[in-house]
Amino acid sequence: MPGSLRGRSFVKELDHTADELLGLVDLARRLEAAKRAGAEVPRLGGRNIALIFEKTSTRTRCAFEVAAHDQGAHVTYLDPSGSQIGHKESAEDTARVLGRMYDGIEYRGASQEVVETLARCAGVPVWNGLTDDWHPTQMLADVLTMREHAPGPVAELSVCFVGDGRNNVARSLLVTGAILGMDVRICAPSSLQPDADLRRTADKLAAESGARVLVTDDVGAVEGVGFVYTDVWVSMGEPPERWAERIDLLLPYQVDAELMALAGPQARFMHCLPAFHDRGTVVGDRLFQQTGLSELEVTHDVFTSDRSVVFDQAENRMHTIKAVLVATMGG
Ligand code: CP
Ligand code: NVA
Repeated sequence: MPGSLRGRSFVKELDHTADELLGLVDLARRLEAAKRAGAEVPRLGGRNIALIFEKTSTRTRCAFEVAAHDQGAHVTYLDPSGSQIGHKESAEDTARVLGRMYDGIEYRGASQEVVETLARCAGVPVWNGLTDDWHPTQMLADVLTMREHAPGPVAELSVCFVGDGRNNVARSLLVTGAILGMDVRICAPSSLQPDADLRRTADKLAAESGARVLVTDDVGAVEGVGFVYTDVWVSMGEPPERWAERIDLLLPYQVDAELMALAGPQARFMHCLPAFHDRGTVVGDRLFQQTGLSELEVTHDVFTSDRSVVFDQAENRMHTIKAVLVATMGG
């Protein structure tokens, strides 16, 4: 496979086949094994990569930097205020400039249109490090994590996302599961469920792949799944005033011990991170002062339990992003 991705961008799951996505996950497994064995072969020597972050990041930035360094490539990090993009220079012009200097470009920001424009105009591969619409590199890490914890056919993987079903992670999980033929469920109050267009797309993909897709407001949907997945209730870029309304809507969907018991003893807990499970952050503490809640989308006991695979997901960001770099830019 990976040869078929050479020179291509990775801006959303919908642009890729199941074979391509699973090929990247398999390549990540091989790269991970090679790194652990001290036998990694650098295939990106002499390459230069631009990392554009218009939103903040820990995992995605570090994963791109470590993956690039492991493979012999160099990176330039452009922070949320460190470039002209969007302020004084269009995405088209930025793409043409960076495409003359770099062999690949990562972009994280609000707009899917911007990352697609970069991909169209740069002449080098462009990778989506998260937009308001999609988080495709997260999905590769999540599929790798699910495969590690539930060996067997991909078609037997089952996951239920519980929370803000309209956010980037929920949308990406829905289409990824539908492309890969999984059992994928989105459990959210009706005002936070994926829109009709996306549901039609997921249903169509599921008809082709054999996936089972369910969107519901009933938390009973977690019953029997292999993985219960949640994410923050207010995403980056949304106004802080939204917290009050989201807490009202989503408190019944908090992933706590009771919900994990409903899912069953086989269920593992997933979260893309960062998570609000205690008061150990500025935002978490402020929300505690305002609401009295010290845990939001997931309780501290579930987050720290041995059913939680969140730090495997975080590590797998690096192995899978490395696979994307090698497959699209290597050779
Ligand atoms: N999961 C994820 O994308 O984390 P960061 O925002 O830290 O990159
Ligand atoms: N939905 C979250 C994901 C963070 C990785 C956000 O966009 O903030």
